[in-house]
Amino acid sequence: MVAAYAAGLVALGLRLGLYRAMAGQGPLTSNEVAERAGLHERWVLEWLHAQSAARVVDYAGNGRFEVTDAVAALLADESSILYLGGSFTTLPNHLSLLPRLDEAFHTGLGLAFDDRGLESAQDSEVLMGNWYRQVLISTALPQLEGVISRLHQGAVVADVGCGSGIALLEMAQAFPTSTFHGYDVSVHALERAESHRAALGAGNVTFHRVDADPLPDGPMFDLVTTFDCLHDMTRPGETVKAIRKAMVGDGTWFIVDIDCAPTFEQNLRRRRFATMLYSTSVYSCLSSALSEPGGAGLGTCGLPEPALRKLVGDGGFGRFRRLDIEHPINAFYEVRP
Ligand SMILES: C[S@@+](CC[C@H](N)C(=O)[O-])C[C@H]1O[C@@H](n2cnc3c(N)ncnc32)[C@H](O)[C@@H]1O
Repeated sequence: MVAAYAAGLVALGLRLGLYRAMAGQGPLTSNEVAERAGLHERWVLEWLHAQSAARVVDYAGNGRFEVTDAVAALLADESSILYLGGSFTTLPNHLSLLPRLDEAFHTGLGLAFDDRGLESAQDSEVLMGNWYRQVLISTALPQLEGVISRLHQGAVVADVGCGSGIALLEMAQAFPTSTFHGYDVSVHALERAESHRAALGAGNVTFHRVDADPLPDGPMFDLVTTFDCLHDMTRPGETVKAIRKAMVGDGTWFIVDIDCAPTFEQNLRRRRFATMLYSTSVYSCLSSALSEPGGAGLGTCGLPEPALRKLVGDGGFGRFRRLDIEHPINAFYEVRP
């Protein structure tokens, strides 16, 4: 309960810009914090008391409160690769789903991303956005054999489960001679993707709603990416087969999925990690993966390396290599026909 209450007020503090107002300022009074954030002092004081008791904010004595540099990196700087704000801002949306999840436990049917409102596309965007902006092009793609030179020459690329398109648009800007296609089932995510595309004027990018406009039936893509989405799909096996059909014979598939262990017992050895992943699954991943009758229901921990290797092998891919890219949650794979 302590963690839950404190986390709720972290989400509120993020929305109100309170960490930003305090970062790098040293110890401040509640009046100074309220003034910097443009908020009502009495409410700010209660928030500061609660956050100091939870040790998110430091109490410096004499009615002064401080956000340390370590906390500022996690909660104040939205462009930091360490920024954790996205994990907290999803919380109110996730908790608001509980009455509907109640129903899912009775019927077996979960909520698709779009059933959860506009927030879910926005939340996914914040969770992985900085990694796409700061690591994908410079560090991750160069690990894929021959892919960078192909992208410079002019490749055709698909991001399946593209969400609001951040990864695809980063690649499209870095490799203007290539063309890029984003596929998703979420109308909300695709609307955000299209508005981001228009704002950047990215003429080499097209987004497709996958149920009306599926992947092509014949070989077209030199590179396919799937970022943190296969385990969310109701029919991941069908998606793997569709990707195989749409990929050229010497193409590459870059898969990012959760770095979990093959068994529940092994995952349990990392208690906090397991608590986060299995809980997120109920709110989000399992719910999406069971959002249609007969859904595969993999959930957040549904694709550890052996299960993923089998899934892609069954779909017609022969080569599978885990890549050496560090990340606290995800594992990275290069898959080829
Ligand atoms: C956790 S989000 C990740 C989005 C994006 N790749 C990112 O990293 O920000 C999972 C995405 O998979 C999409 N998705 C679920 N089932 C899908 C399917 N069958 N085909 C394409 N996208 C799907 C969801 O709509 C959602 O946008």
